Amino acid sequence: MILVTGGLGYIGSHACVALTQAGERLVVLDNLSNAKRSVLERLRELCPDAILDFCEADVRDRGALARVFAAHRVEAVLHFAGLKSVAESVARPLLYYDNNVGGSLALVEAMLAAGVERIVFSSSATVYGPPLSLPHREDHPTAPHNPYGRAKRMVEELLADVARAQPGFRYVALRYFNPIGAHPSGRIGEDPRGEPNNLLPFVTQVAVGRRARLRIHGDDYPTADGTGVRDYLHVMDLAEGHLAALARLRAGGGSLVANLGTGRGHSVREVLAAFERTTGVRVPFEVGPRRAGDLPACWADPSLAERELGWRARRTLEEACRDAWRWQCDNPAGYPD
Ligand code: NAD
Ligand code: UD1
Repeated sequence: MILVTGGLGYIGSHACVALTQAGERLVVLDNLSNAKRSVLERLRELCPDAILDFCEADVRDRGALARVFAAHRVEAVLHFAGLKSVAESVARPLLYYDNNVGGSLALVEAMLAAGVERIVFSSSATVYGPPLSLPHREDHPTAPHNPYGRAKRMVEELLADVARAQPGFRYVALRYFNPIGAHPSGRIGEDPRGEPNNLLPFVTQVAVGRRARLRIHGDDYPTADGTGVRDYLHVMDLAEGHLAALARLRAGGGSLVANLGTGRGHSVREVLAAFERTTGVRVPFEVGPRRAGDLPACWADPSLAERELGWRARRTLEEACRDAWRWQCDNPAGYPD
């Protein structure tokens, strides 16, 4: 059985579906700090009989973790639970160190106490900071430039130290690039609270009429069309990366830190064009100033994941746009309360 922390969130919920399709049985733990309970109903609908237990608890709650590990024979943990706003982490660093580092520490302690020695951790391309060269490779130096990214790097280091000290303990830290899209059923997707920070949810909310226009954050970057370039990958490809990581750990493979991205960058204008082409919906926009803290361009070298995990992103940007749009049309206001 697999314990999925943060399993009601955007990526965790898609991973639950991918795991279920692969025949896994799951226990989900989430404190609902950034998810609605109705996600669980949708998951139960998409994953009949696969979710054996849902525990509404904080991953920092050592008592709750001990109870979960006592009640279920957990073989491995997928650890998605965490806060993810860069801007909030700058304003409230202690919250991020407590929730994201403290939560991971409590989880690993509870795992070791219960004899559970395999974990897949949600890291981020943010750990790289400004690139020395592109694409980002795992052996590039890390220089995160905000507390969110530093907390991710700390957890990677924590896992590496535990793996060195504890024979048998093995982990895979996955450095996600930019997940977008939704499950093709349209039943689960990305449902940000308030104004979306990320590009694609903003685009879909404009397209569905919830917002007047997209603001492009700067078109004077040193990129082909002046707008920011990112490595967007379909969230179901990302979810499947976790299956590959789990398979590696089961097969006795060693600990690993790997990028999950497509290896291709797309500009904001290219994403807009792909969305309009795929959906036939026009998205009004205006060009504003650059967003503080943004990088001109960022994309992955995903070859290590292909070599070590046998994983690569298969879905196209157009498929991600189509699936994000289906989710947005079927759920214009997001998940029900
Ligand atoms: P999300 O906010 O949708 O999901 C995170 C889930 O964890 C939420 O359901 C939230 O309620 C839960 N959670 C948060 N703190 C918790 C705690 N202390 N105890 C229990 N549950 C808690 O975010 P997401 O986009 O699904 O991201 C999942 C993970 O991937 C996060 O660790 C995030 O930092 C990382 N990540 C995300 C992105 C991205 O673009 N979405 C990129 C890189 C890395
Ligand atoms: C942001 C986070 C990053 C996180 C990632 C995925 C910041 C500074 N960085 O990065 O840590 O890992 O999300 O969750 O918050 N854009 C617009 N208009 C918008 C929104 C975005 O033009 O309304 C542009 C951005 O300038 C960027 C691109 O779209 O060029 C992608 O933005 P976004 O989705 O926020 O991802 P990141 O900038 O990679």
